[in-house]
Amino acid sequence: MIYVTGDCHGDFERLNQTIFPEQKEMTKDDYVIICGDVGGVWNRGAESRREKWWMDWLQERSFTTLFVDGNHENFDRLDAYPAEEWHGGLVHKIRPSMIHLMRGQVFDLDGSKIFAFGGARSHDIDGGILELDDPQFELKKKQLDRGWRPYRINHLSWWERELPSEAEMEEGRKNLERNGNQVDFIISHCCASSTQVLLSHGMFKPDILTAYLEEIRQTVQFKKWFFGHYHENRNVNREEILIYEQIIRIS
Ligand SMILES: [Fe+2]
Repeated sequence: MIYVTGDCHGDFERLNQTIFPEQKEMTKDDYVIICGDVGGVWNRGAESRREKWWMDWLQERSFTTLFVDGNHENFDRLDAYPAEEWHGGLVHKIRPSMIHLMRGQVFDLDGSKIFAFGGARSHDIDGGILELDDPQFELKKKQLDRGWRPYRINHLSWWERELPSEAEMEEGRKNLERNGNQVDFIISHCCASSTQVLLSHGMFKPDILTAYLEEIRQTVQFKKWFFGHYHENRNVNREEILIYEQIIRIS
């Protein structure tokens, strides 16, 4: 069995037995995939007590949790986990059964091919990105707080790595080509440029990642594409599904 859900932001309550009783029938060979903004690896420097509690709790579930990264993950820490091969693609294992699906990888799960590509541009940064070592940090922060303007702090609540590198995008192209540009499912945090237009009527601007995903959308055959980021449950069309708190079985 494979289930999919959306952004968690460090709160995995929806995966408890009351809200998600299906897990009673699941084993570690069954999967729940989170479409980014997982927030399980978030704290600066090392795992916080809260994070450790949740990661251990997920490890104790009957199923295996998989995730692509969103824009709200601590990429300094996520990138520090060793990359290992798992079901045909590269992963970071946060726990033996809490697993980060790295960008541009194709996985074979239960006979289903899954293309994973995390990341997204942060939308809530109208006030800009502050640097901790900026001598004017406190002053700038105070001004932004006073004006209620959303901002992020580099390496504390924002990472340049939220957007992909050229190498990650190329890795994705190569792996898809190797699979005849055909997969069963695409799992991402962000979506293709044209999908974003349909969703937001132009409110969100295209960027390097939405353009890349547009290229994927036009060159790859897929059955369903699930993504998070926009905090809504909505079928954009027959194939592309924006998911938030819902937990949907896809296989
Ligand atoms: Fe989010």
